[in-house]
Amino acid sequence: MARRRQIYEGKAKVLFEGPEPGTLVQYFKDDASANNNTKRGVITGKGVLNNRISEYLMLRLGEMGIPTHFVRRLNMREQLVREVEIIPVEVICRNVAAGTFAKRFNIPEGQPLPRSVVEYYYKSDELDDPLVSEEHITAFGWATPQDLDDIMSLTLRINDFLSGLFLGIGIRLVDFRLEFGRLWENDEMRIVVADEISPDSCRLWDTKTGEKMDKDRFRRDLGRVEEAYQEVARRLGILPEGGPRDLKGPEIMQ
Ligand SMILES: Nc1ncnc2c1ncn2[C@@H]1O[C@H](COP(=O)(O)OP(=O)(O)O)[C@@H](O)[C@H]1O
Ligand SMILES: [Mg+2]
Repeated sequence: MARRRQIYEGKAKVLFEGPEPGTLVQYFKDDASANNNTKRGVITGKGVLNNRISEYLMLRLGEMGIPTHFVRRLNMREQLVREVEIIPVEVICRNVAAGTFAKRFNIPEGQPLPRSVVEYYYKSDELDDPLVSEEHITAFGWATPQDLDDIMSLTLRINDFLSGLFLGIGIRLVDFRLEFGRLWENDEMRIVVADEISPDSCRLWDTKTGEKMDKDRFRRDLGRVEEAYQEVARRLGILPEGGPRDLKGPEIMQ
């Protein structure tokens, strides 16, 4: 039954070899982890919803000229993406103080920042994803100054676009995390958005009630986690018909 080769199993997704060279299949799991993997659980239906939400957001970004790894959704839990050379840096863009940022600077959670702040964290489970500066990134060769220029300007464009998109559906984009990768095409290299954009990687607060609609509901045991992910999908107009039930296998559907 070994249909294809598994390349990597992460905390939220599994990567398989794709049907053509240079492609990968991203399988979205229901597994959730937090606090550097010390808290683990399952959010039923999360994989189905994140697959849809990330597809939707990557497509919208593509339409405004932001290059992404997304090719097409294959089924309820899988999407085809371009294989990229992942830059081992998590890029966080913050509009409002929350989480570790609020703690680090002793700012009340929910306080708007004077301007959007972009931070870099080195992707390393062993080291607990430490905060790093451009100096560390260029000195260790994780990315060049030119890569970082591209990453910064893409991140700010994405922030403006997603902030507006979410505001239109009554959601405040508090902060979000991006991963970028290098995509080579005939000796030309482009930096593209990779991984996923979903309530796992964004802080999303209802504009009226302030209610959290993201993975903080899981991290902080706030309950109604599944419902929050569903509500984000519903407001985006992409709740899978019949609810986020699973399909038994990776059946291709269009
Ligand atoms: N287009 C891509 N090409 C290669 N690797 C990717 C691509 N998009 C995402 N990845 C990597 O695949 C993994 C996704 O699985 P995930 O469960 O999120 O892993 P992790 O536990 O490392 O966060 C991440 O390590 C991410 O960097
Ligand atoms: Mg991940």
